[in-house]
Amino acid sequence: VESRFSEPHRPQFHFTPEANWMNDPNGMFHLNGEYHLFYQYYPDSTVWGPMHWGHAVSEDLVRWKHLPVALAPDSLGYIFSGSAVVDHRNSSGFSQDSTPPIVAAFTHHDPVGEQAGTDDFQVQSLAYSVDKGYTWTKYDGNPVLPNDTGIRDFRDPKIIWNPQTEQWIMTLAVYDRVKFYGSPDLKNWQYLSEFGIEGDTRLWECPDLFPMRVSDSRDYKWVLIVSIQQEGPNGGTGTSYFVGDFDGTNFLADPGQQQWLDYGADNYAFVTWDNAPATWGRRLGIGWMSNWQYAQQVPTATWRSAMTVPRVLELQGEAGAYHLIAKPVPSLAGLRGEATPLDSVITQSKIVNGNFDPSMADLDLVVDLQETTASVFGITLSNAQGEQVEIAIDRINGLMRVDRTQSGPKGFSEDFFKRPHDAPLNTSRATLDLRLLFDVASVEIFGNRGALNFTDIYFPSSPYSQMEIWARDGELHLSEGMVYAMNSIWE
Ligand code: FRU
Repeated sequence: VESRFSEPHRPQFHFTPEANWMNDPNGMFHLNGEYHLFYQYYPDSTVWGPMHWGHAVSEDLVRWKHLPVALAPDSLGYIFSGSAVVDHRNSSGFSQDSTPPIVAAFTHHDPVGEQAGTDDFQVQSLAYSVDKGYTWTKYDGNPVLPNDTGIRDFRDPKIIWNPQTEQWIMTLAVYDRVKFYGSPDLKNWQYLSEFGIEGDTRLWECPDLFPMRVSDSRDYKWVLIVSIQQEGPNGGTGTSYFVGDFDGTNFLADPGQQQWLDYGADNYAFVTWDNAPATWGRRLGIGWMSNWQYAQQVPTATWRSAMTVPRVLELQGEAGAYHLIAKPVPSLAGLRGEATPLDSVITQSKIVNGNFDPSMADLDLVVDLQETTASVFGITLSNAQGEQVEIAIDRINGLMRVDRTQSGPKGFSEDFFKRPHDAPLNTSRATLDLRLLFDVASVEIFGNRGALNFTDIYFPSSPYSQMEIWARDGELHLSEGMVYAMNSIWE
């Protein structure tokens, strides 16, 4: 493990680059107990620039080892987002022995072509590794998928193996829709079909298509994750998904709505791991914990941005009404330290005292909604400067509100502080379970067994030092309530 990072706002149990700019997670795969993570990286500045793939590896998805940059810009351009697959059968022929090659697909983005106004400055290329993902060689036949669509936005290839048709499938974001391509060998790609929403003009990015078992059943459905560049649930960028069927050529969405994977402002470009040892039907993913509205302005000095905690996805529901649920990876609980129980009845307000740092805590609550009479209840973190982030559950109106409008010094962005963030939350059940992860500069909330996901970041001028639990107009009853201290991964 590395030396402790103690700069202001540095998360203590989330993945961050050692220094400089990071955006989307890229190319994640698992092999022999190692989880690889790549990411959009600009090693020369704390703002976006010529994109590289940064690289890190972990055995437990909690502690990460930073590795050298995996892919750097070349004569074809910057290295934009993409994916990687373990090519078990060596269909690509990149391996000369029995070790399966890892094949990465990414977008080559040519800034000169973009400037010149050409419409084919984004093309898809490959790189491969024959040492289990540690070092990478770009394919000399790049690009493998030129852009003949006439549409300028043509990027973020996500590849899966489709066992039904025995074919590699590439899902690509093409402006306001996705396009699917098929290949036997990862080098030769054939157009299959496209999927979009009639009349949509928003920019789609970072798609991810995969099959999933529906929990507690033998049925399976296909999930298509798509990040959307504007009009996220609380402004700016956000990650959405569709549930439907894929017949090897066409994706057909179930009737109904595009759904949000996360209602907070800060979970973008969420995509999943290839080849992860998922138990029955589950799938592992991670998102970039920021928002393009202010990502380049947030007040960190030496690096910019963090990833969400890795999350386990599950598909629940029944025909016509499937939804994804997401929970933090179980291994995260290994960082828990001393446990402080919460009072089971809270009236008005109570400061939570115990052997934990309020800025870095893992809370597990079950609210007894039948006994609770408070109309609104919640948790507030604050510091001596009077800065605070407030999480409120409005029991009557069935919503959750995260208010970071007073969370710290303003001025770096207007959008960041504009208004509290809301999410619909089912409060008509007998109980409401809530898991909250606070880590210096972020809160991730998982409600109703992972059905509600909510991620927001904040930047107080000194770490929050007080935790308060409160109830308005009545009592809050907890049937379970524990605050766990969280240990840093840097010690
Ligand atoms: C999403 C995105 C991708 C692109 C990358 C560039 O955040 O815009 O579409 O590949 O970032 O860094």
